[in-house]
Amino acid sequence: TITDVVAWEALDSRGRPTVGCRVGLAGGASGRAIVPSGASTGGHEARELRDADPGRYDGYGVRDAVASVTTTLAPLVTGLDAADQEAADAALESADDDPLLGTAGANAVLAVSLATLLAAAAASGRPLWQHVSTDGDTAPLLPLPMVNIVSGGAHAGRALDIQDVLAVPVGATSFAQALEWAARVRAATAELLARRGGTTTALVADEGGLAGGLTDNEAALALVTDAVEHAGLTPGDDVALAIDIAANQLYDGAGYRLDRDGVTLTPASWLRRLEQWCRDYPVVSLEDVLAEDDWAGWAAATPPLGTDRQLLGDDLFATNAARLRQGIDGGVANAVLVKPNQAGTVSRARRVTELARAAGYATVISARSGDTEDSWLADLAVGWRTGQIKVGSTMRSERTAKWNRLLEIEATSPDAQFAGAAALSRSPG
Ligand code: PGA
Ligand code: ZN
Repeated sequence: TITDVVAWEALDSRGRPTVGCRVGLAGGASGRAIVPSGASTGGHEARELRDADPGRYDGYGVRDAVASVTTTLAPLVTGLDAADQEAADAALESADDDPLLGTAGANAVLAVSLATLLAAAAASGRPLWQHVSTDGDTAPLLPLPMVNIVSGGAHAGRALDIQDVLAVPVGATSFAQALEWAARVRAATAELLARRGGTTTALVADEGGLAGGLTDNEAALALVTDAVEHAGLTPGDDVALAIDIAANQLYDGAGYRLDRDGVTLTPASWLRRLEQWCRDYPVVSLEDVLAEDDWAGWAAATPPLGTDRQLLGDDLFATNAARLRQGIDGGVANAVLVKPNQAGTVSRARRVTELARAAGYATVISARSGDTEDSWLADLAVGWRTGQIKVGSTMRSERTAKWNRLLEIEATSPDAQFAGAAALSRSPG
């Protein structure tokens, strides 16, 4: 039974305020979580509450969200059974008429939801991944990682237009090997960049990727492909590429503006450019290729781009079951990014993974560009059997907290399985 709920203003990896919360239970167990926050946020994700006080933290303070926990949310969950996550989350969601939780604050709601989950797991005496696995599977399934190598967009001062070029170790046979290969590719990329006389490799973007030193977007794809070879690995067979365009950030209402390439492309010519990139480089996954509300464009783009390749919706689906349902019904994309703070509660995020799985869509659980030292995301990936995970690059402790937790689960579980390349979606939805 939940007996006490305490919240406070903490800091995320960008140094911006975020909400921390501790939930205590009658038996003495407790759970604590600090929630993440995005920078390239979509218009349909759950809404954070931030203080409109420019005198503190440049207006990013979360004292109002902390107050929301204390005055609104804590009374709703106190006395409930923490082991019944659905009931706790339903109570939290009932605090707000806004389905996007803008009044109670999605950052406040998720903090309580997660701390409740962690308290229940602590009380159960089982690791979190086991506590959240619902389908009777006891063997942990380690996800295929998608690892940020080169960053652009809102995470790197727009050093590139596209947001991330990632390494996907498709040939690896364990999680540990996958991570080592990704780290090797990152190091080789840094070395090639430095050799080309460009950038100082000390410039690290929000998610730990390399930032700067490239003249145009395609150069990033060529660089990472070369780096795979330079690392002694085979592009496509051992390590393939994924791209997160974060296209909302490029869309000007009519076309896609690529400042680095000096062009604004019509949607049709933008798609032709993407198809060309996919022919020239070993791209196995494409994320947010079009603006988040262009359902017709997405439906038309899905067969050409999503055949033999994962086509992943992030801002498009916003970890929202209704939007994912619309996509499934319309044959849009073939995979969904799952970000718990886009949903607002643990239960909503879990339902999105279940809906995706039932429809044959792949799932990629994901951290945010502003993240925290918490590692619960890794346990959710394993317990929910998402098959894939994206948490940024192989450095910065808010990133390695998740990788290290996955390494720990793999090393300490004799029956651990690795999802590998089979987790990638390859056919139109
Ligand atoms: P965000 O970026 O956390 O800034 O939204 C992550 C992503 O776009 O996948
Ligand atoms: Zn994204």
